Amino acid sequence: MRIKSLQEYQEAYSLSVEKPEQFWADIANEFDWIKPFTKVLDWSFDDYSVKWFEDGQMNITANALDRHLKTIPDQAAIIYEPNEPGDEAITLTYRELHTRVCKFSNVLKAQGVNKGDRVCIYMPMIPELAIAVLACARIGAIHSVVFGGFSAQSISDRVNDSQCKLVITTDGAVRGNKTIPMKETVDDALLSCPCVETVIVKIRTKTPISMLKGRDLWWEEEEMQASGICAPEAMNAEDPLFILYTSGSTGKPKGVVHTCGGYMVYTAYTFANVFQYNLGDVFFCTADIGWITGHSYLVYGPLLNGAISVLFEGIPTYPDAGRFWDIIKRHQVNIFYTAPTAIRSLMGFGDAFLVGKDLSSLRVLGSVGEPINVEAWQWYDEKIGKGNCPIVDTWWQTETGGLMISPIAGITPLKPAFATLPLPGVQPILVDENGNEIEGNGVNGNLCIKYPWPSIIRTTYGDHERCKTTYFSTYPGLYFTGDGCMRDEDGYYRITGRVDDVMNISGHRIGTAEVENAINMHTGVIESAVVGYPHDVKGQGIYAYVICEHPTINDELTRKDILATVARVIGPIAKPDKIQFVTGLPKTRSGKIMRRILRKVAEGEFGSLGDTSTLLDPGVVDSIIKGAI
Ligand code: PRX
Repeated sequence: MRIKSLQEYQEAYSLSVEKPEQFWADIANEFDWIKPFTKVLDWSFDDYSVKWFEDGQMNITANALDRHLKTIPDQAAIIYEPNEPGDEAITLTYRELHTRVCKFSNVLKAQGVNKGDRVCIYMPMIPELAIAVLACARIGAIHSVVFGGFSAQSISDRVNDSQCKLVITTDGAVRGNKTIPMKETVDDALLSCPCVETVIVKIRTKTPISMLKGRDLWWEEEEMQASGICAPEAMNAEDPLFILYTSGSTGKPKGVVHTCGGYMVYTAYTFANVFQYNLGDVFFCTADIGWITGHSYLVYGPLLNGAISVLFEGIPTYPDAGRFWDIIKRHQVNIFYTAPTAIRSLMGFGDAFLVGKDLSSLRVLGSVGEPINVEAWQWYDEKIGKGNCPIVDTWWQTETGGLMISPIAGITPLKPAFATLPLPGVQPILVDENGNEIEGNGVNGNLCIKYPWPSIIRTTYGDHERCKTTYFSTYPGLYFTGDGCMRDEDGYYRITGRVDDVMNISGHRIGTAEVENAINMHTGVIESAVVGYPHDVKGQGIYAYVICEHPTINDELTRKDILATVARVIGPIAKPDKIQFVTGLPKTRSGKIMRRILRKVAEGEFGSLGDTSTLLDPGVVDSIIKGAI
């Protein structure tokens, strides 16, 4: 399954297009199956349904853990680097991780969690987060990890949507010099979640918390009593493995569902190839497990390959902006995978934090989550990679489960800011507004994929119609990514950003409608419109135009109140960077907000607003421009 040259990549790619079933069956057969599959693929993008390895049975943890006990039981699986740089790092070997996962699997079983039940995990970046995820997978429970920065409201929305029976959390969390409540937030969330029967709490900060009799249990006590033996549940390849909520153009975040077999095969294959992982390499993915990058390339992809994966609890700027570089030295990291927003932010601190840092262990660098600008790419290449480490700019999405368009480290010739070429199995196509294919090179269009790959989204939890309309109805017969893309003269792909109402703030995906709904919940707000605008560090910032019932008495205070409302409803990551109070919004006669104009104003491009003649009240635009910040 390992590609070792450009020619091998080209051969693998051709085979994956000409004989996709044979291609993926050969790769899938490298894993341990409880019952081998006989069918490889069944699919339709018209009436959306995709099934890979449908009649096979397996368990992803048997492949990510048990399989390695025969060969590398004492090798590190996870290296936990705590928030405080002075605290000792903790290494869990494959044997230790296996035992702890088995124990926690038994804890879940003892609480009546069965195959197919949903479990919500709301935890900071500590080893127990990975253990909880893997324990769910081992017993066939469907995990729904909610990023630790989300609010109580966001937790309860997600818990209720998928009817979770059990929640796993900690007393608190530490990030940089802040202590953050976790259990308290869960308690608030659960006031409106009657489906939850049990809460398991791991101690992290020794923060005093309330523990409800009959519902709340201590992780440590339960784990102590549990046996370290737990056979992996036989899962059908198409049984759901997890739900991960992600934002779209409209409505509340939707629960993207991934299934066991295809996700296992695809994340393992892409991890091994794109990063050119060699046994014994130390891999450091800085993403939180609360996002898809953490699921696929901190937990599953690396462990399926018997890799050493670094799990970092803190933030890149604590105790100072040299923290990542210290971690690289401390753990002799060979492959480093982070987001452009982190690169830009650290670049902004200048070279002082790089002085004296030994980064010589690095061999491969990766980027993910948002377009990387050429300047940041070059800084990453020169200052971190010392011109010696290929940078893999990996384009993919929560819905794709794994990397889609990306260089293969050291093999694909690079171009700064280009995700370069599709990986084997991925068939991209660019279309115009009407869905017509844009052929040839040197073109721009909307990025679609025309053939299924093993870890494609299977459904949106509880609402298959939503999955069909969101991804398969804009351009019938194609999966629409929501991204704009250019294909240059060499056939290289460069992702230009979302073409829908989804923003990408510091690599975090947030829907404009979600933020508007939150702002509109603030007292006195009549209406709001939110757009993204270019931001030097975050990639995009959030710009909100807000109409209030009365002129505000104190604009600054009202702005802060609105921020507090958004933080409470969604979480601090969704707080607007700019709030402009307006008396009207540019609407068409049919009442639709012309966001194009608002985007231009937010970008400070007042001269090129385009045609405003179809507006109900063109005068509104002048007043918005006058008040622009
Ligand atoms: O717009 C693309 C951007 O992030 C979106 C997916 O966000 P999410 O589901 O949260 O997953 C992020 C991590 C995989 C995409 O639609 N995106 C992701 N990677 C890149 C990117 N944009 C440009 N270049 C990338 N490498």
